[in-house]
Amino acid sequence: MINQSKLQSDWTGRRVLITGGMGFIGSNLAIRLAELGAKVTIADAMVAEYGGNLFNIATVRDNVTVNFGDICDRLAMDWLVRDQEYVFHLAGQVSHVMSLSDPYTDVEYNIKGTVVLMEALRRFNPRAKVVFTGTRGQYGPAVKLPVNEDAPTNPKGLYEISNLAAEKTIQFYHSSHGIESVLLRLTNIYGPRAQMKHHQYGVANWFVRLAIDDETIKLFGDGSIKRDFLYVDDCVDALMLAAKSPSAVGEVFNVGVDHPTTFRELAETIIAVTGSGRWEFAPFSAERKAQEPGDFYSDISKIRKNIGWEPRTSLREGLEATVRYYRQHREQYWGSLMSPSASRRAA
Ligand SMILES: NC(=O)c1ccc[n+]([C@@H]2O[C@H](COP(=O)([O-])OP(=O)(O)OC[C@H]3O[C@@H](n4cnc5c(N)ncnc54)[C@H](O)[C@@H]3O)[C@@H](O)[C@H]2O)c1
Repeated sequence: MINQSKLQSDWTGRRVLITGGMGFIGSNLAIRLAELGAKVTIADAMVAEYGGNLFNIATVRDNVTVNFGDICDRLAMDWLVRDQEYVFHLAGQVSHVMSLSDPYTDVEYNIKGTVVLMEALRRFNPRAKVVFTGTRGQYGPAVKLPVNEDAPTNPKGLYEISNLAAEKTIQFYHSSHGIESVLLRLTNIYGPRAQMKHHQYGVANWFVRLAIDDETIKLFGDGSIKRDFLYVDDCVDALMLAAKSPSAVGEVFNVGVDHPTTFRELAETIIAVTGSGRWEFAPFSAERKAQEPGDFYSDISKIRKNIGWEPRTSLREGLEATVRYYRQHREQYWGSLMSPSASRRAA
């Protein structure tokens, strides 16, 4: 059980910078912190195709400061980090699929952007504490299930490699320059405020869109591949507890769910919750088969023991809240189905 008072404790007046705070996870975090009285600054470049959305922070718009800047902008970051007590570093290239055709953006945003942020902190505010959201993809295919933090890291793409590099960069600034940090490796997160324009990342949310639209969810192979799907509010709990727990400093933690769900169970639950849509099996393409890492789910015993975090929301409850949100705010998220590369050409 999460200690509620620890979760809510003492955010009043705390100065917090969230990179990527207009996106899915960042905006849910910004809202929670702003509601608890923190002084939240968001740095977000609103990169087309990613999850940045003005509507995401509508409920707290007057209580947060937004800087529409790129984390690779050294002068901007030098300024933005000053006086912050906590920096949640969530901005970056976010899609494995996009990294296959454009690996340069991973290097630019995820590696260079992280170096720019950490250099700014080293020079202007080394006392801030950093919480970084890496990915379970840093492990690559699971050698043993569930996957714990001691598992080898054999990432299968530039998205994952660049996240591992960002993690190592932040660790370096901790060991060499004393900047305290906590490194999180997130599983698949789903819930309100994620982008729903395309299916280049965020598979659970994409299934939700298909079901709401009464379309067909395609399950590759026999639908039996296992994953862990974590509701975004639980992810936000983990970020906040990581920031506030002295014992977490310098640690790497998985943030996931320790009982897996098959893609078929996910699709069936979504269809039951929405009351629309259907699913069918689809053969793997050769490319997809080569990329598919197989079963993966997280061992979360380390974070549970160290900072007392664990998921609180069942898959069904999380999906019900997600479907409710998107039914209510559909026009803010559906957008056009232009492919990311087409929208890049159009920009
Ligand atoms: N959502 C998941 O399932 C998941 C899983 C593992 C890891 N993560 C990590 O969590 C973080 C947040 O992901 P999300 O799902 O909220 O994605 P998102 O796309 O919704 O949000 C990312 C935000 O970062 C901003 N951004 C990207 N590059 C930027 C730059 N150079 N400068 C300033 N802003 C920039 C985007 O505009 C966007 O608003 C990412 O680092 C992602 O890799 C997410």
